[in-house]
Amino acid sequence: MARLLIALGVLLILQIASSNKLVCHMTNWAQYRPSIAKFTADNIDPFLCTHVIYALATINSFNQISPIEWNDEQQFSRLNSLRNVNPALKTLLSVGGTVNGLSPFIAMVAKPESRAAFIRSAISYLRTHNFDGLNLAWEYPGHNGSPLVDRERFTLLVTELSKAFEDDAKDNRKTQLLLSANVAALRPTIDKAYEVNKIAAHLDFINVMTYDFHGHWEAATGHNSPLYRSSVDSGSHLYHNINASISHWLSLGAPSEKLLLGFPTYGRTYRLSSGATDLGAPANGPADAGPYTRTAGFWAFYEICDFTTSATVGWISEQEVPYATYGSSWLGYDDQRSYSSKVQWMTATNLGGAHVWTLDMDDFGGYFCSSGPYPLVNHLRMSMGFAPKPTTTPAPTTTRDPIAEFCHGRPDGLYENAADKTTYFQCFKGNTYLHRCQPGLIYWDSCKCCNWP
Ligand SMILES: *[C@@H]1O[C@H](CO)[C@@H](O)[C@H](O)[C@H]1NC(C)=O
Repeated sequence: MARLLIALGVLLILQIASSNKLVCHMTNWAQYRPSIAKFTADNIDPFLCTHVIYALATINSFNQISPIEWNDEQQFSRLNSLRNVNPALKTLLSVGGTVNGLSPFIAMVAKPESRAAFIRSAISYLRTHNFDGLNLAWEYPGHNGSPLVDRERFTLLVTELSKAFEDDAKDNRKTQLLLSANVAALRPTIDKAYEVNKIAAHLDFINVMTYDFHGHWEAATGHNSPLYRSSVDSGSHLYHNINASISHWLSLGAPSEKLLLGFPTYGRTYRLSSGATDLGAPANGPADAGPYTRTAGFWAFYEICDFTTSATVGWISEQEVPYATYGSSWLGYDDQRSYSSKVQWMTATNLGGAHVWTLDMDDFGGYFCSSGPYPLVNHLRMSMGFAPKPTTTPAPTTTRDPIAEFCHGRPDGLYENAADKTTYFQCFKGNTYLHRCQPGLIYWDSCKCCNWP
């Protein structure tokens, strides 16, 4: 009975939270960035996002899901142990990328038996490593393959996956695995890749990649992730913005509450080729690579913080996003102000929430921007109206102080709160978190759980 009540309570919480998702991606290549930019699952704040997506796994020649990095499985366990700290956190494994320049999805979706092999392997792998779900990151169905054929095959894959997830949950009496996808933002790509209403019915949420709208591959400066079109746009560029992209998804029948708006924690750079420095100025290639991300064409937000201290910063008011120039370098990026504009637009459009690409490009350690750890994602969380995160000094409580000191010198784990048995302490990395049992239940140290008095 107690278990049932707890389960109901959890369901209720999930129900409320489902209208407000903050999904954050992390990448397994961020561990190779130098010095203080090195990022692993240990750098994740367990209370920052509602979901964390681990990118990236691949598909092997036997059509099985498989890891890429030598330490992926070690990182899975670090990531999924964060749910001991925040039981509401959901984690998903993302599969995608390319093998010899081609998406591994192309061969896998081609035959019913190879799809079945992939689906079997995915369920078993996700369960073994304690993930809550799978994220499909095929960029894109119909690109390099056969457009209309792969569009239909992607629908088949999504439909079969969701059916198999349903069966797995029933057969094993477990919570059903979540299914999501990263999807294109540009109209011609969307039209080639997706049968929108068919896939939307089977996906729990859809991460629209509303960034990379413009970049150094173009001969004039443009913004990475503008909210609206600008007056220098013409032709197909009229649709290279968030408003046009999400409108297209909605017009094709995607339910707004399943669409998540993509928030980049990076900007895109250009090398200016004349004296002009505004939007649409002539350019020929990217600015220098950042010292930490070491790839010409984009800078992580922490690199941007360094750049903007000496650069001239401007605001593109038509598009509600900032840009910055210094010498011949031009940067279109996002900051707290543009995030706020986008959240406002997202709320007015009734979207299901936000997804962030990526945690590891925000100033996750707070070393660069003088605004504490995760200045962008924390701002996003706050703008979306989430309750404050549990902190070392808990919100109103009947327990006596000094609670914040409780975990100093104690090993990670759960502890009874002698002053109030309806609550309990959790120690994690020296921080104290105070949790409350479901109404009517008290904490029992014997099972490290809440149960009837
Ligand atoms: C946003 O998109 C809608 C639908 O395509 C369009 O009617 C509207 O003019 C756009 N708004 C702006 C400011 O571009």
